[in-house]
Amino acid sequence: MLKDHTSQFSGEKILVVDDEKVIVELTALLLRGRGFTVLTAYNGEECLDIVRNEQPALVLLDYMMPVMDGETALKNIIQNHPDTYVIMFTGKGSEEVAVRLMKTGAADYLQKPFVNSSLLERIDTVLQIRQVELANRDLLREKDQLQLEIEAWNLHLERRVEEKSQELELAHREILQTEKLAALGHISAGMAHEIRNPLNAINLFAQILSGAYSEDLENSSYIRKIVEEVERVDSILVKMLAASRGTAAPRSEVRFEKVARKVLADCDVLCRSQRVMVECLIEEDIPLIIADPTEIEQIFTNLVTNALFEMQQGGRLGVRLTLDEGFIRLEISDTGRGIPKEHLSQIFDPFFTTKEKGTGFGLSVVLRIVRGYGGLIKAESEVGRGTTFIVKLPTSRLLVG
Ligand SMILES: Nc1ncnc2c1ncn2[C@@H]1O[C@H](COP(=O)(O)OP(=O)(O)OP(=O)(O)O)[C@@H](O)[C@H]1O
Ligand SMILES: [Mg+2]
Repeated sequence: MLKDHTSQFSGEKILVVDDEKVIVELTALLLRGRGFTVLTAYNGEECLDIVRNEQPALVLLDYMMPVMDGETALKNIIQNHPDTYVIMFTGKGSEEVAVRLMKTGAADYLQKPFVNSSLLERIDTVLQIRQVELANRDLLREKDQLQLEIEAWNLHLERRVEEKSQELELAHREILQTEKLAALGHISAGMAHEIRNPLNAINLFAQILSGAYSEDLENSSYIRKIVEEVERVDSILVKMLAASRGTAAPRSEVRFEKVARKVLADCDVLCRSQRVMVECLIEEDIPLIIADPTEIEQIFTNLVTNALFEMQQGGRLGVRLTLDEGFIRLEISDTGRGIPKEHLSQIFDPFFTTKEKGTGFGLSVVLRIVRGYGGLIKAESEVGRGTTFIVKLPTSRLLVG
């Protein structure tokens, strides 16, 4: 028989709060009979203490009480314990109060004196609503969580797409660069041959004229200019050839450290005159390599020349040679003007120069050589602070010979 009387929510905690002891005791008896776990309190303050510690599913709360009235307790429960629902007991004929309490957040109200059956009915209904609403809240929380996860995934995917696009762009740029170097190779080999012959002739005639006009100061200065310009054209052609040379040069044993020291010694005078401090760090265990010594020197010379050009008002030239997981790593840094972002993607292009008398071949020569040894080169730069070129050459390719 007891089973018939047991509520479907038996076991749930219900707190009964009223200053009238008889009401509390009778209600508690009734509810226990229905299988609820019943807690009791006699004023608002006690009520809040128990709610805080026990978190009951439901509070039956009297409106009129000493110490702390029911409405104040209700507000506190609504604000701090959203999982605890409240049914208010009000006096007869106080509909206005009831409306206000419902607006504040009470789940229901009952006018005193009440009939037991309607109390039990209300309790079951409110607990049912509570069950649905809590489940709903859980679902919403789950939905929010899923939404957050989806957003994180989206962000991750967007980042991956962006990374892949950048890789593709880089690969595309590398292909373009290789094509440019190849095209340059064809053109320059032909041009150098065709142009250097007449250039030699001009040079020769200028020398003859220079003898004839040795007394004439004005004309001999023009002739000197002709010779200088011819030499400039010739040096451009030599650089063009170097940038595009396809055939492998003979290789021999090269000591990186020696090459570095030679290049630094060659530019020692320039460094002093420009008041450039040189900081050189060379690790001891850099292995002897098999390579074309001229090419290795060209890497150093071109990078150091560029660095020094940027530090005509003084600065610090850094040369670091280290071993880095199977790579010989060379870093040449300067404290010069830096490279603007929009130039970074072009500096390795043949002909790209920002210098009045530059040819724009230096870095394309370095790139061709580095690629020839299966290596990598990149520039890190900050305008106004300086630039570092990092070259990485795989020792596996350099040791075999
Ligand atoms: N260390 C550096 N600091 C700032 N800009 C640099 C640096 N190195 C290279 N650059 C930029 O890259 C451009 C290309 O350099 P690259 O060495 O290929 O040609 P160049 O120095 O202009 O001429 P050259 O053929 O005489 O070397 C330079 O004109 C300059 O704008
Ligand atoms: Mg240069």
